[in-house]
Amino acid sequence: MTDPAESPVIQQQHRHRSVRRFLPEPVGDAQLEAIVGAAQRASSSSNLQAWSVVAVRDADRRLRLSRALGGHPYIEQAPVFLVWLADLARNAQLLRSRGVEPETLRYIETTLLGAIDVGIAAQNALLAAESLGLGGVFVGGIRNDPEAVSEELGLPEHTFAIVGMALGVPDPAEGTGIKPRLPLHGVLHHERYDPEAWRDATVEYETRYRAYFETQGAPDRSWAETTSRRLGPVTGLHGRDTMRASLRTQGFPSE
Ligand SMILES: Cc1cc2nc3c(=O)[nH]c(=O)nc-3n(C[C@H](O)[C@H](O)[C@H](O)COP(=O)(O)O)c2cc1C
Repeated sequence: MTDPAESPVIQQQHRHRSVRRFLPEPVGDAQLEAIVGAAQRASSSSNLQAWSVVAVRDADRRLRLSRALGGHPYIEQAPVFLVWLADLARNAQLLRSRGVEPETLRYIETTLLGAIDVGIAAQNALLAAESLGLGGVFVGGIRNDPEAVSEELGLPEHTFAIVGMALGVPDPAEGTGIKPRLPLHGVLHHERYDPEAWRDATVEYETRYRAYFETQGAPDRSWAETTSRRLGPVTGLHGRDTMRASLRTQGFPSE
């Protein structure tokens, strides 16, 4: 067996950091196609391949998207902004062309299927991009205004923008480091879930988290506080509390 420490893939994964500032250099077609081709190699639920991606290079379109979503400088600055879609439209049309009604599209299971396929494919893409010396950041902010995004990209029924991804050549002046994660014992359970595992893990993590942000010039950051802001009051959802209605509009009733 390969020594895990020697695996180039694992080494690449451990170098990951989100990149939000880019040099003014393009991402060429060959790179884009290699990245999306790598995404396509990801596992896919029943091989339905229930996703698509829209590559947005046009600066005006990126600006409009950024503004619609509340202002995200990395969308405006990145040479390419990828919008990852749950896409059941292709499959639905295939069924209908054969006289079969795609009844399963009504159910939340199919919504989850599309979102899971997207997540797995998109992470494959980011890892591939990183292996080429590019960098990027996922953009959940794409869900801040699903209607505006669907309009801007001309999304048909049974497609939904799950996550964005700003990609480009990292600007070394950004200077962000590799953000620590929870200690492994906080996330890896053996045989049965340990409901107390979070306690020591989060205490230990808070120390690492603070130390990391100190190196970034933000000494008072706390993971507990950040998490509380995001998952506490509904304001942490940035308007996404109406998601079920937005999904329904795009043909994902999610019953
Ligand atoms: C689904 C998803 C959505 C995200 N959305 C945003 C976003 O809208 N804006 C942003 O700046 N970062 C976003 N991120 C990046 C996370 O903040 C980042 O991955 C996390 O803080 C860990 O930092 P790291 O990627 O540098 O290790 C998102 C990440 C994921 C996985």
